[in-house]
This record gives sequence, structure tokens and C-alpha cells, in this order.
Amino acid sequence: MKHEINTHNINWLTNRIKRSEQHQESVWNNRANDFSFDKRDGKKVTLNESGHKMIEFMSCSYLGLEDDPRIKFAAKKAIDQYGVTFAAARTRMRPEITNVLDEKLQRIFGAPTITFPTVGLCHLAVLPLLGANELPSYPINNKVHWILDQTSHASIQILRGVLEQFGPVTRVNFADIECLKNSVKQVSELGYTAITLSDGVGSMGGLAPVKVLLELAKKYRGYAYIDDAHGTSIMGKNGAGYVLQELDDDFPRELVLTSSLAKAFGSTGGAVSVYGIDDDKRIRKYANPYIFGGPLAIPTIAAADAASDIHLSEEIYTLQNKLKRSCHYFDSIAPPNTVNHGNPVPIRGLFVGCEERAIQINKQLMQKGYACTVAMYPTVPEGKAMIRVAISNKHTDTDLSRLVDEFNQFANVEEMAL
Ligand SMILES: Cc1ncc(COP(=O)(O)O)c(C=O)c1O
Repeated sequence: MKHEINTHNINWLTNRIKRSEQHQESVWNNRANDFSFDKRDGKKVTLNESGHKMIEFMSCSYLGLEDDPRIKFAAKKAIDQYGVTFAAARTRMRPEITNVLDEKLQRIFGAPTITFPTVGLCHLAVLPLLGANELPSYPINNKVHWILDQTSHASIQILRGVLEQFGPVTRVNFADIECLKNSVKQVSELGYTAITLSDGVGSMGGLAPVKVLLELAKKYRGYAYIDDAHGTSIMGKNGAGYVLQELDDDFPRELVLTSSLAKAFGSTGGAVSVYGIDDDKRIRKYANPYIFGGPLAIPTIAAADAASDIHLSEEIYTLQNKLKRSCHYFDSIAPPNTVNHGNPVPIRGLFVGCEERAIQINKQLMQKGYACTVAMYPTVPEGKAMIRVAISNKHTDTDLSRLVDEFNQFANVEEMAL
């Protein structure tokens, strides 16, 4: 018997896959992604199948710390001392280096900080405790109402069903400040505790209105939960990130901050910072992925520890300034409609619009030896496809200018052909 699909009951995920499938299939079929390399020298990678050499603009290790000799040495030494992993939840037992890292992260972020193997697990650990009124510094009056930025990273969006167990979720475009303010006001006046959820630095462009979010939280006695994965390290005192830089390096009691140790920081993992030590203790005793999940791998703890020393030294400002200079240089040569043009973050989107065109341009860039990411729906809105460029301290000015030249050539030729 033929199985009939009831289109009325299609879930959001199937619906989204259906809308994106044509372009997603095309990017694979055109071989414009899904490469693997077996040699790497800074930004130069050699593909293992063909030996083709490329400059990559894909990795988000913006400060270029991932192959710093001090960090690599620390990781190797820790393997010799402790092995590759200690396969037990940290509540039971952990290598001492775990405590050393936590203490350094607390100094960097100016607040108690707990690590998890990924940023996504930070969300899964902390949002339920926050919504359940289980974090002492973040009391909930009545019930929470989550106000979720429409452009928040997928790692938060996917938790909508989890969030709804604790209170309603409203999705709002935080770039529309009036709409954001009205939403927080309305739910607060209905007696809810409003918790805004957003990225600090958008992975595909845009910056959170951090000051507004904290003002709203203070005014309506709510909280701001901000994921600063892409802002970590590249800005702020000791590399504490974009969000804390916007707040003059002072950790307010209305903030819950997540940071990534896997992008500019130079290791892997995620970290969540909370206002009080009692919140920290509560997370370590009751957060699901902490008590029922494993720790970070030992070399990555040691790598993060060595990277923390760099963050806690003057060297971090030299690295941040170098990156800033490269971003200015890129902006001086890139088309003015480039996404994030002039923004103080190292993510740029060479704007194309049409998905299929973006795939073809990316494919040609690949053939010329430039590996970029095609960003398309659902990562960005439909019809707003772009070539995503992650600028790093390891790129030379020549790498950047050649990429822009090639892009301009392909983009113009493609335009004429249409
Ligand atoms: C803003 C943001 N948050 C979270 C994540 C997910 O990080 P993780 O892989 O550590 O879960 C990403 C990944 O790129 C991201 O861009």
C-alpha cells in the first residue's frame, strides 16, 4: 500500500530540509565543500585525494593559536602525564589540570566559569537550570518567558522544545531594537521573568545589542543569556570577548555568558560563566551534561590551559591588534556590500544572493586554490547566499587580496552571464 504523506503535519525540520535540499544537494554535487587534507602549514592545506594546495578561509581560529608551539607542547606533555582521557564524569574524579584551567578561565572572564566539551553542551547544561529557577543569582519571578533572537545559532534554536518545558518562547529579530524592547516589556508586564537569548557575534554576520540587552534585563529584572562563541579571545581584556568588552569588562549579575575555547581561543570546548560561586556549584552538582557526561579530552584541557596563559599576558593584545589590522585591510579592498564590512570582527561574507551562483563561484574559487564556505539557507535567509570568509592572523595581505580579486572576477563574469 502506498504511504501517503500528510503535508499538514510536516514537522519544522522536514520542512526546513525540503526548503534547503536543492541547494544543499548542489553544493555536494558540485564538489564545493567536503574536502579533507593530509598536510597543513598555517593556512595552506594539501588535499589528500588530489594533492591540490589551497589557502583556507574556513577555520574560525582567528588568532592563529591552534598550532602555537607552546600550546602543542602542553597538549603533548599532558598526554604523557595523564593519558588521552579520563573517562569519568568530573564529579567523581578529574586530573588536577582541570582545576587549574577553571581557575584561569575565572580570571579571564571575571566570573566563575565551567567548561564543557562543546558550547552546545553549555546551553544544554545551563538553560534548564536557569528556566527551573535553580541558579541562586538568577531568581525567577513566577515563570520564565524566553525571548529568542531569530538569528541565534542553531545550537540554541534546537533547544526550543527544552526551553518550552520551562516557559513560552517568542522569536524576535534583535536587530529591530524597538521590537526587542516591546517584547521584553510586554512579557514582563504579564508577570514573566524575561530571558533574552542571542549570539554575541553572529556566526554569519551581525552583532548583539549587548548594552540594550543588559539595560532591559536590569529594568525588567530579567536576564541576558549571550553566546559569545565567535567573540571569544578576539576582543576584550584578557580576550574575554566582545560581550564583556561592550560591558567595560565588568560581569553584571543579569548576564549568563557562553564562550568558545574552540575558535580563536586555540583549543576545543565551551565555557559558561555565571555571576556567583553558588551558581557555579549548582551547575557542577545538577547540570545534566556535567554529572552524566564526560570531561574534555586531556590534550584539549592542557591546550586551553596554555592558551589561557597567553590570554592572561600582554601578548593577547598584540594578537588582537594584528587581527584588527587584517580586517581593516580586507575592508579596504572588499566590495562595500560585503557582510560585516567595517565591523570589528573577523567574519566577512562576500555577498552573492542567489544560492546556485554562490555555489558556482565557490567552486571556481576552490579550483583557484581558495577554500571558503558557501553560506546558504538555512544558515542565512533564502536569497542571501554569500561566500563566508574567516580572516585569521595566519593570512597574509596577499592571501586576502588574491581572494578578493578572484571573487570579483568570478562575480562579475557570473553577473554578465545572467
Ligand atoms: C555562536 C555559536 N555558538 C555555538 C556554536 C557551536 O559550538 P560547539 O561546536 O562548541 O557546540 C557555534 C559553532 O560554530 C557558534 O557559531
